[in-house]
Amino acid sequence: MRGFCTLRKEKRVAKTQIIIDYKNVTSAVIGAKDGITPSQLKSLGKKIKLLISKINKQRKAGETPFRDLPYNKRISKRVNAVVKTLRKECDYLVVLGIGGSALGNIALDTALRPFLPDPKDKQSKRPRLFVLDNVDPDQFGSFLDYIKPKLKRTVFNVISKSGRTSETAAQFMIIREMLIDALGKTGYQNRVVATTDAKAGTLRTIADSDKLQTLEVPDGVGGRFSVLSAVGLFSAAMCGINISQLLAGAGDMDERVSREDFRQNPAAINAAINYHYYTHGKPISVMMPYSYALKDMADWYRQLWAESLGKKLDLNKREVWIGPTPVKALGTTDQHSQVQLYREGTNDKLFTFLQANNFGRDVKIGPAPDCAPELGFLAGKKMSTLFNNEKKATEYALMESNRPNLTVIFDKVNAYTIGQFIYLYEVTTSFMGALLDINPYDQPAVELGKEATFALMGKEGYKDFAQEIQSKTEIDEDFLV
Ligand code: PA5
Repeated sequence: MRGFCTLRKEKRVAKTQIIIDYKNVTSAVIGAKDGITPSQLKSLGKKIKLLISKINKQRKAGETPFRDLPYNKRISKRVNAVVKTLRKECDYLVVLGIGGSALGNIALDTALRPFLPDPKDKQSKRPRLFVLDNVDPDQFGSFLDYIKPKLKRTVFNVISKSGRTSETAAQFMIIREMLIDALGKTGYQNRVVATTDAKAGTLRTIADSDKLQTLEVPDGVGGRFSVLSAVGLFSAAMCGINISQLLAGAGDMDERVSREDFRQNPAAINAAINYHYYTHGKPISVMMPYSYALKDMADWYRQLWAESLGKKLDLNKREVWIGPTPVKALGTTDQHSQVQLYREGTNDKLFTFLQANNFGRDVKIGPAPDCAPELGFLAGKKMSTLFNNEKKATEYALMESNRPNLTVIFDKVNAYTIGQFIYLYEVTTSFMGALLDINPYDQPAVELGKEATFALMGKEGYKDFAQEIQSKTEIDEDFLV
């Protein structure tokens, strides 16, 4: 039947849906010592069944508002309205933000736009995106030199949910001054969109006082769960990404990850496997896309996993110091950098490959030079064939070393499948939080670093704290070499 592909055991899945192939975590493939046995899978199923109902109830009670983002028409309407006012006068879009206010924007751009501008591609006529998520003066200074002559054709989107993150505030203060100097107050107002809390926070105060266009970070949606809100949608829409397809894909995945049947619920299965390995001597979780487009999705995932699951306290406020360590890798590049360790190093990792069955384009490999007939095996083949066979080869090599691995298969990387992937991993994170009995939606340990920066930079009310930090971080000559 058209629109369907045939998988192992004749399982039929709509081609437009991403699927998880988890055969290589089973004991039948990698042995009972490292693989999940049927009885272990059964008991994981029992454990997670209760959590599926709990998570569905939390969602119905409005406790996890990120779950409803795919259906929030108000957000996309507002995003599209702001885009309309700016798109014609914009060749460069600059996002100022960090963490959950930047990584999703980068991931969407890498996934859904060509690697280099392509004059035949209509998206390439859309603005070039820069996401500045650091305060390195070399990098930022060089960017200022680049963008200064282009300000009239540049839009800045400053994103901060809390509105008080030092990095974003500092970047914004520099840009604000530069725009006012170069274009005057009205020019500045016309070039900036602020994405922040609807009512509270310093950025909201500035945006209101400076009369900037604003977009909202929805209430109760944390930074790393916010890519499907205005946080990620505005830069995506400005750059010509089909945000309705992105949201439709997320909605499609919502149906699948809400299923009460564990074996039919990809987020529940994914979390169960990750949880099993975390609690069975494999606390490291490597995500390895075989697709350049998916490269930064692994970066986005790394933050989602780390900030959500690395926690000192469980839900009963007992100290647990828990959390799997996410690692990003890239196929095939890291085959020649990491796979030696992955196969022969400590067997403490679960691998998640991301695979694209089809690519936006293909490239044919040229003929072998006469002097090198041994390269004939590559001649005339498609590069996509080489790429996916490299993935298969790595999968096989890991299996041979009893290393558990699963694959998230994209028939094709597009806005619809990316929407599914984002939603799948957000909900997998909720399940992991429930399995680990921690709150995946806060980040108290990040807050301490933010507060310490305030103190060290001389913020009012932080004098004693600053002294404490200075005394603890003082350089001791005895330990300099
Ligand atoms: O996921 C999170 O909550 C964090 O990574 C934040 O996004 C990050 O710290 C930036 O915070 P803010 O958007 O408040 O500036």
